[in-house]
Amino acid sequence: MDHKTTALVTGASAGIGAEFCRQLAGRCQVIIATGRRLDRLEALAEELAGQAEVHPVAADLGSREGRTRVIEALRQKGPADYLVNNAGFSTLGPFDVLPLDDQQAMVDVHITATMALTRAALPFMRELGGGAIINVSSLASFGPVPMAAVYCASKGFLNLFSESLQKEVADAGIRVQSLCPGYTMSEFHDRDAMSAFDRQMVPAEEWMNAPEVVAASLAALEGGPVVLVPGEGNRESARKGVARALSKLEA
Ligand SMILES: NC(=O)c1ccc[n+]([C@@H]2O[C@H](COP(=O)([O-])OP(=O)(O)OC[C@H]3O[C@@H](n4cnc5c(N)ncnc54)[C@H](OP(=O)(O)O)[C@@H]3O)[C@@H](O)[C@H]2O)c1
Repeated sequence: MDHKTTALVTGASAGIGAEFCRQLAGRCQVIIATGRRLDRLEALAEELAGQAEVHPVAADLGSREGRTRVIEALRQKGPADYLVNNAGFSTLGPFDVLPLDDQQAMVDVHITATMALTRAALPFMRELGGGAIINVSSLASFGPVPMAAVYCASKGFLNLFSESLQKEVADAGIRVQSLCPGYTMSEFHDRDAMSAFDRQMVPAEEWMNAPEVVAASLAALEGGPVVLVPGEGNRESARKGVARALSKLEA
């Protein structure tokens, strides 16, 4: 089979996902880049022209139709050597006040889409004899995090899913990682649903940037832990069991 090294990255239209595409362009010939904003994905394809063949796929991973569209793109352009389940968002507020539809969409984007894409990609990774699956979780998975109950719980799912899956596929040479960033500069905190969040609340030294987070993730694929917390300050928070930075939200 004439196989080109291929990555599928969700949430590639901004932040950490766009940076995954940039850094994977050094390892992959083909990148399937998904998100809802096609113009952003097209701009990324243009930026990376000459480094990798980028195929933009506009799809809402909160819908079954969107997930099916991405799986179809994987069938056409894959199989994937790298699957990065990165798309995600949060809301901020008490669970009994926030609209249930938004919380359901979070579960669908973080959990249902990750399961569906992993299920679609894995059998082909086994055939290829290797591959890597990176599920972008969060430091919040070490919560509890009041005002973000479904967010931290859905990210907690990703940690256990990844750890269990790694045991299932280790013999096939496949690496699974649950990447748990702390505060990272991106569009994450600019979204309407996060309008109650104030960046000033978090000291400057607690922020990482997306290139640092992605470099730590890719470097740890060989021999690193399944549940990876980038940044020493974040690891210290995770060790305490409750994210130090996030706990400020309780104050
Ligand atoms: N930034 C942080 O502080 C931080 C900390 C811990 C974990 N994380 C995690 O890191 C991941 C990436 O976030 P980021 O910081 O890079 O935020 P971001 O800049 O807001 O990017 C989020 C990406 O997810 C996509 N996305 C959101 N909802 C989607 C949907 N329904 N369907 C398809 N794509 C969707 C967005 O694309 P469209 O809007 O174009 O659809 C965008 O490309 C998320 O899973 C987040 O939970 C972030």
